[in-house]
Amino acid sequence: MTENKKRVFSAIKPTGNPTLGNYLGAMKYWGRMSDEYDCLFSVADLHAITVAIEPKELRENTKRLFALLIAMGVDPEKNVLFVQSHVPAHSELCWLLNNYTMFGEARRMTQFKEKSEKAPENVNVGLFDYPVLMAADILLYQAEIVPVGEDQMQHVELCRNIAERFNGRYSPTFVLPEGRIPKYGARIHSLLDPTAKMGKSDSSADGTVLVLDRPEDIARKFKRAVTDSGKGVFASPDKPGITNLLTIYASLLDISIEDAEREFKDSDYASFKTKVGEAVIETLRPIREKYELLRRDDGALLSLMKQGADKAAYLARRTLEKVYKKIGFVR
Ligand code: TRP
Repeated sequence: MTENKKRVFSAIKPTGNPTLGNYLGAMKYWGRMSDEYDCLFSVADLHAITVAIEPKELRENTKRLFALLIAMGVDPEKNVLFVQSHVPAHSELCWLLNNYTMFGEARRMTQFKEKSEKAPENVNVGLFDYPVLMAADILLYQAEIVPVGEDQMQHVELCRNIAERFNGRYSPTFVLPEGRIPKYGARIHSLLDPTAKMGKSDSSADGTVLVLDRPEDIARKFKRAVTDSGKGVFASPDKPGITNLLTIYASLLDISIEDAEREFKDSDYASFKTKVGEAVIETLRPIREKYELLRRDDGALLSLMKQGADKAAYLARRTLEKVYKKIGFVR
């Protein structure tokens, strides 16, 4: 970590199996940020248990996500890449911040309300506390920029409120972070229902492409992708299927939608779908190969995790010690 670049923090939960939508929407860009920013990226395993998850699934998802991020270009030498639970300061600061978070403001969180309605049998306190743990993640590293999806913006706002309250009560302690929705991140929809988001929960369905899918499965999924009536490969609100495929192609190749349209202006739908499928296969191939290499040696993967956690823990401790002292704990 140098002191002259702005600091970025973001995290992803190890729930489900990462999809093409996750990749093109966010993960792809993480690896590119380290030139401009000092980046910390975390696998948010502590957040993953707010919704019921099997032990073996949590373990596998955590290793998979960590290795995948490296395979996608997050260089563990240039970034601080770590597993959240390996740095106990996250849980510690979360407890402290709980006392500077109002019940009323936490209760207003849209995601809490939505998740409570979805699983009324498991409305646990961890689910309620989820955004406070997120605030701890961010504030520990004095991050200035927090790239997130739109659904997480409210949580970053809450984080700012908590930080301001703490700073006001004691003295300036935390940097106030700014949530940022990456403008280049594409929103990818299901191949079978292009009005719905490509989700990691319905990953068995052919509408969702997984980053680790085999090439033959990717090819099949694109062959079956729904198109629209009429012909002509161009983006339009009346053509959600074609628009989705064009968006996938353009963001894979880092070109504009217009350039993608130009490339396919004489194509019929069948060959267009095949071409997009091939582009996905070729982009994901080196990622999958690097991933498989990383998963061959568990010991080496664990030592990369440890290396990241050591770097993160050093930074986190500095903030945490200040916080303990300001509140009046005997150190
Ligand atoms: N809750 C975030 C999500 O679901 C993941 C996350 C955990 C996060 N901690 C964070 C994102 C801190 C940004 C900053 O996407």
